[in-house]
Amino acid sequence: MRRLRLLVLTHEDLVPPDSLSGYDPKEILRWKKEYDVTHGLRELGHDVRVIGVSHELRPIRVAIEEFRPHLVFHLLMEFQDVAVYQAHIVSYLELLRVPYAGCNPRGLLIARDKALSKKIFRYHRIPAPAFTVFRHGRAIRVPHGLGYPRIVKSVDEEASLGIAQASVVDDEERLRERVAFVHRRLGSDAIAEQYIQGRELTISVLGNERLQTFPVWELFFDNLPPGSKPIATERAKWDRAYQLRAGIGTGPAEDLPDTLARHISKVAKRTYRALGLTGYARIDLRLSEDGRVWVLEANPNPDLRSEEDFAAAADEAGIAYPELLQRIVNLGIRHRSPWKTE
Ligand SMILES: Nc1ncnc2c1ncn2[C@@H]1O[C@H](COP(=O)(O)OP(=O)(O)O)[C@@H](O)[C@H]1O
Ligand SMILES: [Mg+2]
Repeated sequence: MRRLRLLVLTHEDLVPPDSLSGYDPKEILRWKKEYDVTHGLRELGHDVRVIGVSHELRPIRVAIEEFRPHLVFHLLMEFQDVAVYQAHIVSYLELLRVPYAGCNPRGLLIARDKALSKKIFRYHRIPAPAFTVFRHGRAIRVPHGLGYPRIVKSVDEEASLGIAQASVVDDEERLRERVAFVHRRLGSDAIAEQYIQGRELTISVLGNERLQTFPVWELFFDNLPPGSKPIATERAKWDRAYQLRAGIGTGPAEDLPDTLARHISKVAKRTYRALGLTGYARIDLRLSEDGRVWVLEANPNPDLRSEEDFAAAADEAGIAYPELLQRIVNLGIRHRSPWKTE
């Protein structure tokens, strides 16, 4: 394998140490992704440098000019504290004409918008929940005949931010309350989606033109308190003690008929293509009780921690961790950026 110069780009607070020893698990969790990726790439024999940024572009440019990386492995989730600027950093890398790992900027921007992406799904006949958007800063006008239950979310947040049991609403009054909460607390437009009852599945996709999917994964809720809905709330996603108490975990989806697993893989690939994604992504789905598959959202550049769903599903498919990183590097180098085809 060719030894490459790889520049890992992340937030300045998340530059990982050389070793995990001496850190408590909570601290480790903050930069575990950065740690795993950096160490994995070094394990593959590459020459790896890490830089942390938050508000200035200049350090990125300087590092690229000095180190001349074959690829930037960018792990930034935000820039200048703004999440959608993640895509603009990738645009900047394009303009600097350096290959990068993960999704192209247009795909990042489109997939991040839960309303825009669902409009595109509609055109491509990709099954997704019905939705209504409530703009931030406008009066909340609830359309007549809106069906319930609904789930109210921020239109562009991630990682279950702002999602709680109260997000699922059964009537107009609760809907208004939760929309107002999203406007006030998250400062974004709110989207109220038809609530899909059923199993929560996710499938990981790798590729640019030719796509590969990994085994279907499931988020299960084995011991929820009575009355709680099985949804990935902020707490379900991040609170370890609650996960243990409520029996929340992830793993291969069991008892899925082969035909259904193949169908899910097909839907995931169509979703990936419809949004113009490249690199790697995880598609979140629900399987309703009548056996129908619904796409909730696509997550380009999902969490790359070695124990997270994306890497775990790849491992299940026979692609061990550092090898997975190598494939992501290769896809980044091969991605057909406009500047490469001039
Ligand atoms: N339409 C829906 N029907 C049922 N559950 C939903 C729906 N939308 C979201 N959820 C639940 O909320 C969680 C977070 O929603 P999602 O749209 O994936 O946002 P995020 O970007 O924060 O992951 C999902 O994993 C799922 O458990
Ligand atoms: Mg999600």
